[in-house]
Amino acid sequence: MSYEERLQHVSVLGAAGKMGSGILLLTAVEMADISLKPENKGKAFVLNAIDVSDEALAGLIKYLKAQVLKLAEKKVVGLRKVYADRADLIDNDEIINQYIFDVISLVRTTTRLESAYDSTMIFEAIKEDPDVKISLFSKISTNNPHQPWFFTNTSSIPITKLDQGAGLKGRIIGFHFYNPPAIQKLVEIIKADGTLPEVEAFALQYAKNLRKVVVPSHDKAGFIGNGHFMRDILYAATEVEKLGKEFSFVEAAYALNKISQDYLVRPMGIFQLVDYVGVDVCSFIMSVMNPYLPMEDLHVPLLDKLLANGVKGGQFSDGSQKDGILKYEKGRPVAIYDPSAKAYKAISEFQAKVDEKLGTMPTPPAWKSVIGNKSKDEILRTYFSQLKLATSPGAELSKAYANRSCEIGLGLISSGVAMNENDVNTVLLTGFFHAYGPINNYLK
Ligand SMILES: NC(=O)c1ccc[n+]([C@@H]2O[C@H](COP(=O)([O-])OP(=O)(O)OC[C@H]3O[C@@H](n4cnc5c(N)ncnc54)[C@H](O)[C@@H]3O)[C@@H](O)[C@H]2O)c1
Repeated sequence: MSYEERLQHVSVLGAAGKMGSGILLLTAVEMADISLKPENKGKAFVLNAIDVSDEALAGLIKYLKAQVLKLAEKKVVGLRKVYADRADLIDNDEIINQYIFDVISLVRTTTRLESAYDSTMIFEAIKEDPDVKISLFSKISTNNPHQPWFFTNTSSIPITKLDQGAGLKGRIIGFHFYNPPAIQKLVEIIKADGTLPEVEAFALQYAKNLRKVVVPSHDKAGFIGNGHFMRDILYAATEVEKLGKEFSFVEAAYALNKISQDYLVRPMGIFQLVDYVGVDVCSFIMSVMNPYLPMEDLHVPLLDKLLANGVKGGQFSDGSQKDGILKYEKGRPVAIYDPSAKAYKAISEFQAKVDEKLGTMPTPPAWKSVIGNKSKDEILRTYFSQLKLATSPGAELSKAYANRSCEIGLGLISSGVAMNENDVNTVLLTGFFHAYGPINNYLK
């Protein structure tokens, strides 16, 4: 079966979710572009958008239309060629509307898993629960006569566990999109022990067509992205605890969030990133990874405390940030949650005191001004050489944080998760929008 034939009948599981809707969009466009080739005229292409939530599915087509419109506007010159034989399509609006129609016509929203029994390709983005994933894969595999291939978006479960659990005999690969899939360039590709070479070849072709940056990761729980991120959270939370002698919880959390953002020149502080991903999601990912890490305890009691108090973070359906460890106003953190008081405390009440305690710091370049700057390396080198010489408590905390991030990166290589330094750095640069990779010489 060719690449194009395999994409004639596809199902996306969890299609109404954060990741599923993006994967659906990318796949719908890829399938539409194939179906519009002259040699494919008359062939049927079907894309099932499967989700348990009828409510969420109801908004999906509207979302797809809006996204395809944006895309079609960008590639209208190319689309004019695609529709060259359509004398009835004259102005750009007509071409764009036809393209939206052609993409949307492929998509069938449904809550019935049975629709996947006819598919040759299954993309899966349901919740991060190995048992639920295995049960769905197993049901589809048993009832589908086409020996479908499974692309799972799991961000932490070893693919070999899913393969063996569902008896797929290598018809599976980890295809780990980052959030949001349509915008984020990075995809981690993870082979199970028995992943068939033709499944891997398809994955590479699909990633290439979607213009993604591919980083291979070995099949170890958490892979590279969460392998770094989860340990980074653990480190920050442990540092908050250590600072407990001098600082209250909210003060220490503010300090670590500020250090990880401003003084490490990252797009967000560590606790803001936890909120962005979701306190519950981070906690769950750790619980999935932890049994595979006999030499460490990847568990953060702070996350348990927050969840026990209903503090979850995550995002509203319009993409705006929900309150989590931090409270947000117009997207900016304004307060920090104190689990003992079960209330948020305004940052303005303690900011000046904590900043003073952190002491004199070199002025860091703003992340926004560094990213994409041609002189990025020079700017970072200058800043970190000043940080290296600084001895204030804030400078020491920042250096220790950067060194720990580097150590985590190197640990991912020595423990056989990542193949090399470049792969670790690419994941952090591309998937997390860091301005520099964690494995670097800036503080050496
Ligand atoms: N959110 C992220 O930042 C991110 C990034 C990379 C990977 N991932 C991974 O992607 C997957 C999905 O995460 P998400 O954040 O999109 O979750 P989500 O909760 O936004 O979406 C999951 C969707 O799956 C649906 N669903 C649940 N059970 C189902 C079932 N049995 N059959 C069909 N649909 C079902 C839900 O209704 C929901 O719409 C997880 O494996 C997660 O680890 C998430």
